[in-house]
Amino acid sequence: MSGSGIERIDRAEAAARLPEFPELLEMAELAASRAYAPYSGFRVGAAVLAGSGRSYPGANVESASYGATICAERGAVAAAVAAGETQIRACVVITPTPEPSSPCGICRQLLAEFGPDVAVFAVGQGDGVMAARIGDLLPASFGATDLRASTAGGGASGGAGEGGR
Ligand code: THU
Repeated sequence: MSGSGIERIDRAEAAARLPEFPELLEMAELAASRAYAPYSGFRVGAAVLAGSGRSYPGANVESASYGATICAERGAVAAAVAAGETQIRACVVITPTPEPSSPCGICRQLLAEFGPDVAVFAVGQGDGVMAARIGDLLPASFGATDLRASTAGGGASGGAGEGGR
């Protein structure tokens, strides 16, 4: 995928790029083992590295009303924010697939809230890792600047990714 900014690397290279990768992966694997996925059976785990240097886990939580399901990545972001974090630096997500699965669109949108440079590492059960900046996974995204540009009044005071709160 040359030119897209989306790269296929291995776990060793991911650790070389992000020293916290092994601990994030371990945290994500544990979270995946705790996922509540009775409908899909697709257990996903995530871990985000926040601005303080601390890491936070997330697991998918499904609902009998399927649309109420929460993905692992968004669970991890919510845990970080609830703990007082204002920045997200990286997200590692692991899926029960041989090859890495790409984060869903809703999760990409939420991660993009923290700026285009959030590093995403998607991992499957093998050695392969999909590595990308969230800005490359979700280019031309809707964001706080769009809300601020509203001619209808109101609008946003700023998102964490753009330095405002
Ligand atoms: N899922 C995630 O947790 N993260 C993603 O990025 C994609 C999908 C979950 C949602 C649902 O519980 C299951 O995987 C199947 O879609």
